[in-house]
Amino acid sequence: MPNIIVNQELCTKCHQCSLTCPMGIIRPSRETKYPSIDKANEDSCMRCGHCEAFCPQQALVLDFLPEEKQSFAPGANTVNPDNLSLYMRSRRSIRFFKPEPVSRETIMQILEIARYAPTGGNSQKVEWLVIYDPAEVKRIATLTMDWMRSILGSSHPLAAYVPHIIKGWDMGFDPICRNAPHLVFAHLPVSDFIDDRTDAIIALSHFDLAAPAFGVGACWAGFIRMALDSYPPLQEALALPAEHKVGYGLFFGYPLHQVTAIPRRNKLQIEWRG
Ligand SMILES: Cc1cc2nc3c(=O)[nH]c(=O)nc-3n(C[C@H](O)[C@H](O)[C@H](O)COP(=O)(O)O)c2cc1C
Repeated sequence: MPNIIVNQELCTKCHQCSLTCPMGIIRPSRETKYPSIDKANEDSCMRCGHCEAFCPQQALVLDFLPEEKQSFAPGANTVNPDNLSLYMRSRRSIRFFKPEPVSRETIMQILEIARYAPTGGNSQKVEWLVIYDPAEVKRIATLTMDWMRSILGSSHPLAAYVPHIIKGWDMGFDPICRNAPHLVFAHLPVSDFIDDRTDAIIALSHFDLAAPAFGVGACWAGFIRMALDSYPPLQEALALPAEHKVGYGLFFGYPLHQVTAIPRRNKLQIEWRG
């Protein structure tokens, strides 16, 4: 487990790192009074890096990929609330795409943002599967349609809607991936004992929100997610590592149409206590 590397020329021993450590394991060293983690407590460090993130002097680095540390001038990370509000509220589910592909480089830039999404206990177990080839996206859509045909007339909650969806597909329309060129899945190790896919869904939400900044639009692939729960041919097509399950998927690409307005949403339902 990592320890912290303190630059003694910069450290003022203000112990902000101790105050902000969620595990409470950073203390002044008995000899030097500079912050340190006792050997006995090293295993409790979850590598969240709050010690360095909140250091006013930028005087320490967590000894985990220290070469990747990025510092910035105080205040450089602020966003104007009006800009943020417009940006986030104008994000739309995109269902009509240009055929041109998004470059792998752009996808990497979006994923690089999404990898900073929070994870429970900073476990960082989320992994990504990018279906880059449009033909493979079509194969996954086709398998999802096969699943739909298999639940026709069953007691599945979607069964009543399936004939309509199948009719659209048979007429050449793609109701599953909307002819998007790409698909991305966030997956993580889960078992029947612990089936918590929250971290993967949070990471995908970050992808969904970051994408429009790159001119890319996405939509949550709900039908694929439903099919994945119970359709082995689709599970086999994704070929995830053993014990891994999909949190969710998004289909994405360059939007065909531009967003020019923000549709209304239900009023907030809030109960304030206290
Ligand atoms: C969990 C989830 C699953 C969804 N599944 C699909 C889907 O399979 N196909 C689709 O066209 N839209 C899907 N959507 C998009 C919703 O219909 C959309 O978010 C909603 O209509 C609001 O529109 P907006 O995202 O543009 O605000 C899904 C959205 C979520 C959050």
